[in-house]
Amino acid sequence: MNVTELLDMNGRVGCVTGAASGLGFAMAEALAEAGAHVVMTDVDAPGLDAAAARLRAAGLSVDTEVLDVSHLDALERVVDGIVARHGRLDAMFANAGISAGPGFAFGDAGRIGQIDLDHWRHVLDVNLTAATWSIKAAAKHMIAQQGGRIVVTASIGGIRAEPFVGYAYAATKSAMLNVVRQAAVDLAPHNVLVNAIAPGPFLTNIAGGRLHREPLIAAQFASAVPLRRLASPDEIKGLALLLASPAGSFITGTVIPVDGGATAAV
Ligand SMILES: NC(=O)c1ccc[n+]([C@@H]2O[C@H](COP(=O)([O-])OP(=O)(O)OC[C@H]3O[C@@H](n4cnc5c(N)ncnc54)[C@H](O)[C@@H]3O)[C@@H](O)[C@H]2O)c1
Repeated sequence: MNVTELLDMNGRVGCVTGAASGLGFAMAEALAEAGAHVVMTDVDAPGLDAAAARLRAAGLSVDTEVLDVSHLDALERVVDGIVARHGRLDAMFANAGISAGPGFAFGDAGRIGQIDLDHWRHVLDVNLTAATWSIKAAAKHMIAQQGGRIVVTASIGGIRAEPFVGYAYAATKSAMLNVVRQAAVDLAPHNVLVNAIAPGPFLTNIAGGRLHREPLIAAQFASAVPLRRLASPDEIKGLALLLASPAGSFITGTVIPVDGGATAAV
């Protein structure tokens, strides 16, 4: 296979959760630009419509499903529906996630004594349970078709202590790394490959768009990165496509940081 064929997604079907914004939008765009049909899902219906309209205007093949991933029955129904309509699911991106509020670097609200149980459970529902169910829902079909790719958006905040993020965020992103390893070994006999991307700080709408609105906070995040800047969402596209395409055929059970050197520096 030449390099163009290695990155070709023509004839493949992908699904991205949290695709209305930020990294999920960039992942959907990467798959679609490489030739896949992409089902974009998000809880934000107007945002999802606008995001899909942008990709369609560029001539890309996408459709949408409004989905709150923490509604696990709905999540499974949406994934089943994709396979019913398109006959297959080749790449599942479990990307939807939420912030757990600021970490202890930003004051007392992020310290361990301030963890609120309801908020903790909500973050676990979205970032851990729903991300695991996204793997489960996709794996059922990928086992049947004896092949597929699953990519989880974790975080460098799941690899090491990260004073900028809340406890629940660190806990869920760390837990997902081992869910990925577990699923990678479990599903390897079926040629289903499971990997995690661990982004450093990207300029997205996470945490209510705080990084856009508060330059001092953004500068603090950037100062912890050897490249001394935040990443643009486009900078996730190359790795997302690698993990979903024929080029990634021998990569499974890994976590790959895209972090400007942040994890190398500790
Ligand atoms: N931006 C960063 O610096 C960064 C760093 C590490 C990891 N991440 C992870 O990247 C992923 C994407 O975040 P982002 O930075 O692009 O943020 P974002 O807020 O720009 O995009 C997240 C999208 O997920 C959607 N979403 C939120 N909760 C949902 C739910 N329950 N069901 C369905 N959709 C839901 C939102 O509506 C939004 O469109 C998350 O898992 C996040 O934890 C982000």
